[in-house]
Amino acid sequence: MGENLPAHIAVIMDGNGRWAEARGLPRREGHRAGAEVVRRVITECRAAGIRHVTLYAFSSENWGRPKAEVRHLFSLLKEFLDREIPLMEQKGIALNVLGDTAALPLGARAAVSRGIKRTSGGVEMTFNLALNYGARAELVRAARSFVREGASPGDVTEQSLAGRLYTVGQPDPDLLIRTGGERRLSNFLLYQCAYAELYFTPVLWPDFKEEHLRAALEDYAARSRRFGKI
Ligand code: IPE
Ligand code: IPE
Ligand code: MG
Repeated sequence: MGENLPAHIAVIMDGNGRWAEARGLPRREGHRAGAEVVRRVITECRAAGIRHVTLYAFSSENWGRPKAEVRHLFSLLKEFLDREIPLMEQKGIALNVLGDTAALPLGARAAVSRGIKRTSGGVEMTFNLALNYGARAELVRAARSFVREGASPGDVTEQSLAGRLYTVGQPDPDLLIRTGGERRLSNFLLYQCAYAELYFTPVLWPDFKEEHLRAALEDYAARSRRFGKI
């Protein structure tokens, strides 16, 4: 499969709640099971030679969920980072965050900045975690930075705009996977995914196994990307 490997995979990890509900468990158990899948997928992507992986962990719209669920999600995040960061450091994986972390609960925010600092030397793979991320807010932020700098119309180019996004310096996602059966983008990487190949699977995120990742990569490898040409 070495050929046609995506340089950047982005994943909308969806279906944790339904996975738990189908088992008569509270939704939080679905999130816990989902966190385990994150660690495996990161390892598998790293082993496959994928250089950039972006996971959508919390959207700017997810603040609209019950407070207890939000609190649980961030406490899981902190637990996950505290456990995984040493391993990521060992494997040369650099953690990066897409989104506005200022609004995160203090403990989670501290774990995120510790993680970024400790893994900053990683050159094998960049692991982007989208936290309190919304693509529209990201574009507004970029527009504001132009205004703040007193930019003139000619200064605004596709390149300079991309340089003001959270993904600055990284290739655009080649493959966008969404688990959980929904076929929508939910405000994820709208600018960067202009030419991404979309892959939707009904598999719920906690059930997403190596074989499912392999199936997505095979599907991607068989596609013809034309970028508007013939
Ligand atoms: C994805 O699973 C995780 C987050 C959005 C944080 P959901 O919690 O959205 O699960 P469903 O879609 O309700 O099953
Ligand atoms: C998208 O899932 C956000 C994340 C996976 C973090 P949602 O479950 O929030 O999306 P909608 O509400 O179904 O569009
Ligand atoms: Mg969902």
